[in-house]
Amino acid sequence: MARILITSALPYINGVKHLGNLAGSMLPADVYARFNRAMGHDVLFICATDEHGTPAELAAIEAGQTTAQYCDEQHEIQKRVGQGFALSFDWFGRSSREPNRKLTQHFANVLEDNGLIDERTSKQVYSVDDKRFLPDRYVEGTCPNCGYEKARGDQCDNCGTLLDPVDLINPYSSVSGSRNVEIRDTRHLYLLQSKLQEEVRAFVDKRADSWPNLTTSIAYKWLDEGLIDRSITRDLSWGVPVTRNGAPRPGFESKVFYVWFDAPIEYIGSTVEWSEATGGNWESWWRTDKGADDVTYVEFMGKDNVAFHTVSFPVTILGSKEPWKLVDKLKAFNWLNWYGGKFSTSQKRGVFMDQALELLPGDYWRWYLIANSPESSDTAFTWEAFKACINSDLNDVLGNFVNRITKYTAAKFDGKVPDGGEPGEHEAWMANELATRLPALISYYEAMEFRKAAAETRAIWAAGNEYITKAAPWTAYKTSVDQAAVGIRTGLNLVALFGIIAQPIVPETAKKILDALGIPEDRRSLNPDKLGQGGYPALLDALPRGKSIEVPPQLFTKIEDAQVAEWSAKFGGG
Ligand code: 2FM
Ligand code: ZN
Repeated sequence: MARILITSALPYINGVKHLGNLAGSMLPADVYARFNRAMGHDVLFICATDEHGTPAELAAIEAGQTTAQYCDEQHEIQKRVGQGFALSFDWFGRSSREPNRKLTQHFANVLEDNGLIDERTSKQVYSVDDKRFLPDRYVEGTCPNCGYEKARGDQCDNCGTLLDPVDLINPYSSVSGSRNVEIRDTRHLYLLQSKLQEEVRAFVDKRADSWPNLTTSIAYKWLDEGLIDRSITRDLSWGVPVTRNGAPRPGFESKVFYVWFDAPIEYIGSTVEWSEATGGNWESWWRTDKGADDVTYVEFMGKDNVAFHTVSFPVTILGSKEPWKLVDKLKAFNWLNWYGGKFSTSQKRGVFMDQALELLPGDYWRWYLIANSPESSDTAFTWEAFKACINSDLNDVLGNFVNRITKYTAAKFDGKVPDGGEPGEHEAWMANELATRLPALISYYEAMEFRKAAAETRAIWAAGNEYITKAAPWTAYKTSVDQAAVGIRTGLNLVALFGIIAQPIVPETAKKILDALGIPEDRRSLNPDKLGQGGYPALLDALPRGKSIEVPPQLFTKIEDAQVAEWSAKFGGG
């Protein structure tokens, strides 16, 4: 039994996430967690809301709430929506809670003790009326490059030039609109990443073989460009207060740590929250001197997060010179687009997680998003492809098979696994299919190749359909009940197996199937040692003969053209 720590990139608190966010971190992380649990491994799956930073403050202002109220409310909403998608986090924490605050202050302290933090002066826009320094995005003004009058301090939306807010012409505060702004000196803490260049490279070199290309190419690009010292504090009130040796740091009373400094530390913080709530031992997952040396740590994220996880967070960990766990495997994703464009809240393009659940149950979305995972390139969501995928894979290939076999059992075999008859060539063919396909399925999951895992799952379901067409128990019944019994018994065993392999991707459907067949929890394992005991033919005769089964409730309904038309009109597309 292996110990596997899994984290998904932490969703920002500012509003419910769209399907692209789900597809690029939380969902594949969940599928991987479910797969490993079904293999019998000891899994700890951690996530949280990422609550600090400018976007949280801005969203709260827009909602007319204090930032704290806003975050309380949005955390609950995101938690509920995650449950709606059956995301099986062992803990869904909050970066604004005490454990993260303490850990973040701890890391800053030891980094400074180790000579890796400096105080430096820089110039920043100060709004006299707002009585605050303005973070880059809070300053707007005229672009020095193209003359666009509403350029943001970090980048001009018109010409794309990256800007420094002090370069804007006629700058004003986007918080209040006030033009009463001036450039003032401000002091910030800088993390001296340049000093750790070689250590981080050695760490990446060690992991590179096991990381996918997308991950290593981003990590090396940053390393090759040379790590630059970065400021890790901001002039904001919402965030982790800046301290030194446990006391407020003089001159930093109105500053907090930068959100990207504290966010990854919340992976640890959230695990501490988990242990406080459950009595679990967080150190045995995170401290290599306290048992975490046998943990495999796996991170999931979109490609925009890779640099922070392969370079910045490792700088924090390595620079502390303390025995913290570093990431072992890192799975990164490209973008899920909406019809070739970006998801956009303001332009009503794309479906957000809460809206998706109002249209269809979580399993429909889970299946489509994993079967079309943006693994090797960006992919586009379209309603047409979604409809075709669901109707074929889930409704026709899986749902109809389960329905047909269980109903026939109820009608002709008194709702019991039939006895009698001997397996023949068709059953041998099916056993042979399983003998190659099941090991392939497991190896795809182990390699975190999610599209291939979904395709193999579907291929096994499809092979079952092919088997039942060959065996044709409904025809056989007319001449030999015994021969029909072999087909239905094999079919029922396939239904059970289909439910077992469905667990990682469509867990609620899997549960309905396995419950209807009365498969005990300890017989739902995907581990080949348990699953295939007695070899693959035995898998087709594993259910006790004479055992009563039920017909599961209807598993799926087909998506109709009229629904596609309605949803396209509402959410864009087509
Ligand atoms: O890009 C994002 O959505 C960030 N909120 C991810 C943070 S991941 C971790 F470092 F906290
Ligand atoms: Zn411009």
